[in-house]
Amino acid sequence: MSEQTTATRYALVTGGSSGIGLETARGLTTHFDVVGIVGRDPGRLAEAAQDLSSGPACIETFQADFASLTEVRRLADDIRARFDSLSVLVNNAGVWHTQRTLSKDGYEATLAVNHLAHFLLTNELKDLLVAAAPARVVNVSSSMHGRPKSIHWDDLMFEKHWAGFWVYGHSKLANVLFSNELARRWKDLGVTSNALNPGNVRSRITRNNAFLNALHSSPIARLVVMTEADGAQTSIYAATAPELEGVTGRYFDKAKEAKPNRATGNEEAARHLWKVSQELVDEAATPWTGEARHVPATFPRGFAQGSGLGLPPGPLSMRPVPFIALTTLLLGIILALLYG
Ligand SMILES: NC(=O)c1ccc[n+]([C@@H]2O[C@H](COP(=O)([O-])OP(=O)(O)OC[C@H]3O[C@@H](n4cnc5c(N)ncnc54)[C@H](OP(=O)(O)O)[C@@H]3O)[C@@H](O)[C@H]2O)c1
Repeated sequence: MSEQTTATRYALVTGGSSGIGLETARGLTTHFDVVGIVGRDPGRLAEAAQDLSSGPACIETFQADFASLTEVRRLADDIRARFDSLSVLVNNAGVWHTQRTLSKDGYEATLAVNHLAHFLLTNELKDLLVAAAPARVVNVSSSMHGRPKSIHWDDLMFEKHWAGFWVYGHSKLANVLFSNELARRWKDLGVTSNALNPGNVRSRITRNNAFLNALHSSPIARLVVMTEADGAQTSIYAATAPELEGVTGRYFDKAKEAKPNRATGNEEAARHLWKVSQELVDEAATPWTGEARHVPATFPRGFAQGSGLGLPPGPLSMRPVPFIALTTLLLGIILALLYG
């Protein structure tokens, strides 16, 4: 009998223990030999692995809390110990807080989990991805990335103004800027990077928000809000579609290419976000003492906030108060209509 020469193909999904991530992992089981799922809760991870075990792939579970960059580094070691290459990394884990929360490293937790943890994990897994080339990094963003008009450089940890919608949207803008910058930096390595919006999906992401939870669960909303399986389709497409071989630095919605917010086209902002993110993850190598963390000087000379975007330079290119008031009013009207 001839010796098996085909290399094992590995894929990994963060936030794979529930929601869109679990359904993405399920979709990947028919394309890869081994599918790894990363989750923070051992019970949910075990349940998800059991659920996926009837599929054709071997399932590996990895436990890590993305609110700790030390755990993300340990996770990368764990992955390197069990995988010898990585064909697809789906950066999917995400959180939406309803009050300002700090990560275990002292950073604003939405930015820390949704962006910094994935920035670090992706860079840590570079060698595995290159070893599998052609390989793909898929970054799950949101249509909410279009809310902020730029990265909130002068208050990156939202110490002055915090609102869940804005901070979440900001982290999702960071996902697309990171995805684009990764595409430019790794273009000659055979590793592509694309970002996407999964759509409006009924999942646990709104669990901390009673209002959005009620809205998502209402009978009429159920007709327009997608299931988690439908929400996973764009991620599965970006991870596996043969026609996307070599396609990089793009944005997808409804399993086709779409136009992201123009703020994502600001290459200077993307480069600067990379630099600042690197400084923040380096800083977190020192255990947090509870003191305010040093956040690097975020305003390079001559780089005005909103530059290149047709926005006036200044600290408030995001204006949360009118947006929240308007959104609350609109959601109130929708809820009143739904519940009569
Ligand atoms: N649902 C939507 O309408 C929607 C729309 C646009 C974009 N998205 C994006 O889609 C992605 C998946 O969200 P979802 O809707 O499937 O929500 P979800 O059901 O809440 O899933 C989020 C996943 O991220 C994991 N996670 C959260 N915080 C974590 C932490 N500190 N450490 C490790 N893992 C953590 C969760 O783990 P646990 O199981 O332990 O909670 C879960 O597996 C997110 O990036 C979200 O921003 C969702």
